[in-house]
Amino acid sequence: MSESTIESILEEKRLFQPPDQFSQTAHIKTIEQYKEVYEKARNNPEGFWAELAETELDWFQKWDKVLDWQPPFAKWFVNGKINISYNCLDRHLTTWRRNKAALIWEGEPGDSRTLTYAQLHREVCQMANVFKQLGVKKGDRVGIYMPMIPEAAIAMLACARIGAPHTVVFGGFSADALKNRLVDAEAKLVVTADGGWRKDAIVPLKEQVDKALIAGAPTVENVLVVKRTAQKIQMEPGRDHWWHELQKGVSGECPAEPMDSEDMLFILYTSGTTGKPKGVVHTTGGYNLYTHVTNKWAFDLQDTDVYWCTADVGWITGHSYIVYGPLSNGATSLMYEGAPRASNPGCLWDVVEKYGVTIFYTAPTAIRALMKMGEQHPNARNLTSLRLLGTVGEPINPEAWMWYHRIIGNSKCPIVDTWWQTETGGFMITPLPGATTTKPGSATLPFPGIIADIVDQEGEAVDGNNGGYLVVKHPWPGMMRTVYGDDDRFRRTYWEYIRPKNGEYIYFAGDGAHKDEDGYFWVMGRVDDVINMAGHRLGTMEVESALVSHPAVAEAAVVGKPDEVKGEEIVAFVTLEGEREANEALEKELKQHVVQEIGAIARPGEIRFTDDLPKTRSGKIMRRLLRSLAAGQEIAGDTSTLQDRSVLDKLRGGA
Ligand code: WT7
Repeated sequence: MSESTIESILEEKRLFQPPDQFSQTAHIKTIEQYKEVYEKARNNPEGFWAELAETELDWFQKWDKVLDWQPPFAKWFVNGKINISYNCLDRHLTTWRRNKAALIWEGEPGDSRTLTYAQLHREVCQMANVFKQLGVKKGDRVGIYMPMIPEAAIAMLACARIGAPHTVVFGGFSADALKNRLVDAEAKLVVTADGGWRKDAIVPLKEQVDKALIAGAPTVENVLVVKRTAQKIQMEPGRDHWWHELQKGVSGECPAEPMDSEDMLFILYTSGTTGKPKGVVHTTGGYNLYTHVTNKWAFDLQDTDVYWCTADVGWITGHSYIVYGPLSNGATSLMYEGAPRASNPGCLWDVVEKYGVTIFYTAPTAIRALMKMGEQHPNARNLTSLRLLGTVGEPINPEAWMWYHRIIGNSKCPIVDTWWQTETGGFMITPLPGATTTKPGSATLPFPGIIADIVDQEGEAVDGNNGGYLVVKHPWPGMMRTVYGDDDRFRRTYWEYIRPKNGEYIYFAGDGAHKDEDGYFWVMGRVDDVINMAGHRLGTMEVESALVSHPAVAEAAVVGKPDEVKGEEIVAFVTLEGEREANEALEKELKQHVVQEIGAIARPGEIRFTDDLPKTRSGKIMRRLLRSLAAGQEIAGDTSTLQDRSVLDKLRGGA
């Protein structure tokens, strides 16, 4: 299809109806049914969630109260006793699913493994027993720094089983970033691997753990190491243990600890507008229910599906929609260690063909990268097993949407564009694929039970067309409960930015959005100082603090610049100390410094040296102006608060 044909389709603002065949067997079959469920949930949210909690999950003890809402602190299913590992494993063992594939895993070098529910249960129990041997008790935190191998999921489920909250740190983070997270969470144990395979190279995870522990994470007593890549690594006697050695002879039974519904399940760090990442806290019962139901309805999970979410377990998408949501549903969840690379640009499609993947979920940035690699790769594989596609992470541009639809979905698969966040635990605005007519670029309508709106800073609904702040007005079971160790930051960041006159607490997501005449939401992107680069969320302040920690840097301002593939690219404006000279070598050194402080995911694309930064009279850096400069746009809007107008001219001139 030529560019102009695509354009004409987009101009027509084409609507994509759910295919009849899809709707007929879907959990939610029509838009009327969606509306009915939505209204029911809106009129009685607690009754709605309670009914689902009763029918969809297994509880050791029923709750006394569905919701205890002391704004902005929520408790769901008060005094209910539950274990998410039990819901993901044990309860399937007494059914025909006992020998169904729970996890299908494909390694980057082409090795593979399938674990049935019974096998996964056994391994999880064994790891849980090993954790106990290593002195981990209910309530202790466990750091997980792993490649995409089954043991990553096993470690999470083992933690959940004994009630030890996990904090998974994405394997792409540096030793420093890992250390900071282990320190903040006061982790007692770290589970890692010798390494992982990524683009034909070994990611030396254990070496990073060693560095992190030398840098100082005093609470860590033991390190459990999974053998994956088998290169030589250091093992410190007494502290470091091989998983395959400790696993020997350990019982494959370990009763799931009855957890309070509000016991912490995990902490997951995410970037915000300050230099320090926030430990987002999720608890047990509500999170289990929310990921279960959203996964089931928005992905229309059926027992015959082979469901593949390409995220890393180190992100919320991996937590909610590789591990907990799918397994709680008794689905088959596929995990892939690798990524498209020069030596195998079609590897994702090989995996789809090999396992007959039916549901495929990835990010717009990945779709754009795949588009660039060329349609010959998907075209050379048999992708006819696919019946549903999904996207997450950023607004999807209509061109990418159309390519995904035509080339991957063979023009027959619905696409669910799921809007949500680390903080929300699960999907908030998403099509239900058997019911919702989709429009390329829109996440469409709120999930039942979610009251979303677009408002101004006073919380007043605004004319959707003009856009405003995207907010959520009623608590939901999957919501984050607090920032680990910092209730105050939780309140300030999410609940006090929008200030309604009646004092009501409204959740602000950090995104701007508008709504069209059909009530469809169009998320426009972050309105705060957060960058979304290649599907990774980074705080500009975080990158700035990394830069200024370099002795040559006096001041730094970081902004996002639109990028065709990554969505956004980091541009750093840097002023130097004293007589330091701006040159290419220093630019390289500073980029490398950021990689060391945070990880390769935060490497700035461009560093611009400048004598001065544009500031307001009160000394606040005017990032808005820098964003326009970085994007090569004219500077629009008000510049009257600028302290020194000549700074802008200089920056424009030849920075
Ligand atoms: C931010 C959350 C939730 C898992 C992936 C990222 C952006 C996410 C969409 C979407 C437009 C989206 C938002 C949001 N975002 N999904 N479908 N359409 N924007 O999780 O790192 O917590 O980032 O990602 O800006 O606030 P995260």
